Amino acid sequence: AMTRQEWADEVRRLAKERDAVILAHNYQRPEIQDVADHTGDSLALSRLAASVEASTIVFCGVHFMAETAKLLSPEKTVLLPEPEAGCSLADTITAEDVRAWRAEHPGAVVVAYVNTTAAVKAETDICCTSSNAADVIRSIPEDREILFLPDQFLGAHVRRVTGRDNIHVWMGECHVHAGIDGHTLRERVEAEPDAELYVHPECGCATSALYLASSGTVPQDRVKVLSTGGMLSAAEKTTANKVLIATETGMLHQLRAANPRTAFEPVNSRAECHYMKMITAEKLLSALRHGTTEITVPEDVAVRARRSVERMIAIGS
Ligand code: 13P
Ligand code: SF4
Repeated sequence: AMTRQEWADEVRRLAKERDAVILAHNYQRPEIQDVADHTGDSLALSRLAASVEASTIVFCGVHFMAETAKLLSPEKTVLLPEPEAGCSLADTITAEDVRAWRAEHPGAVVVAYVNTTAAVKAETDICCTSSNAADVIRSIPEDREILFLPDQFLGAHVRRVTGRDNIHVWMGECHVHAGIDGHTLRERVEAEPDAELYVHPECGCATSALYLASSGTVPQDRVKVLSTGGMLSAAEKTTANKVLIATETGMLHQLRAANPRTAFEPVNSRAECHYMKMITAEKLLSALRHGTTEITVPEDVAVRARRSVERMIAIGS
C-alpha cells in the first residue's frame, strides 16, 4: 500500500503528465483538498474552470459542478473521478418542471442556483451561487416577477435580504443542509453563548439564525450568513475564540487551516454530504491514470445553459 505522501506525489506526477489541473470543492475529503491545485466555493471554482490554462480539469466535487466547468470550458476535457457523485438538491427539479413553472408565470425571470443539472440551467435566464444570489436578484428590474429555484432556504434568504416580495421559490432542499435545523442551532447557541455563528444560506436554520440575531439572543454582528468561500474569508479575519459552523463538515478543514487561533466547531457534526465524499484518494488516482470519467453536455443544452451561467459571471462580485 502507498503512504499518503507517495499517493500525493503520484497524483501530482500524473496530473502533470496529463496537463491537468485539480479543482476541489470545500466539502471534499481533507486529503483531496490538500492535493488539489485550487480549493474553493462553487463560484470560485467555476471562474477558475474558465480561466485555467491546463487542457484537462479534474473536478473533485459533484456532477453539476463538473458540468458547469464543461459549459465554461468546452474545449477542455473535464473529468469527474466518480460519476455517481450527484446532489439531492439538484435532483429536486427537472427541465420539464422548469418549463411547466415558467408557463404558469409568463414574463417572469427564472433564476437558478448553480446546484442544478445543465439540462435545468438550459431552461433558465440567469444562474447564481450562494455568494452572489442577492446581487443577481438586484440585477433584475424590480417590477419583474422572479422564479427562484431550486433551494427554498436560499430563496427565502434572498427574498429577505433584497426585500422583494415578487420572488416565487421552488420548494427544493439539500438533505444535508436542511438537517441543520433551527432546533439544532438553538441548542448549540445556548450551549456556546459567546461564539460567532457562520451559516450557509442552504441551511434549514438560516431563518432562525437571523431571528436569533434580530431578537437579541445573539448580538447581530456575531451572526453571518455566508457561502463556503465567504466563511473562509471571515475565518481569516476573526478574533473570536470560537465560531460555530452551519454547513457541510468538510468545510472545517479549510477554516482550521486558515486560522489556528480560533476553534471552529460544527453546529451539526453529522452534516456530511456522502456525494462529496465519494471522491476518494483511490478514485482520484484512478481518474488520473485512466482519464475517467469524462463529463460532456449535449451541444444544444450547452449553448442555452452556458448563456445562463455567463450572465451570472458577467455580473461580477
Ligand atoms: P458554495 O460552495 O457555493 O457555498 O455551495 C455549497 C454547496 O452546497 C455546494 O454543493
Ligand atoms: Fe448537493 Fe447538499 Fe451535497 Fe451540496 S451538500 S452537493 S447541495 S447534496
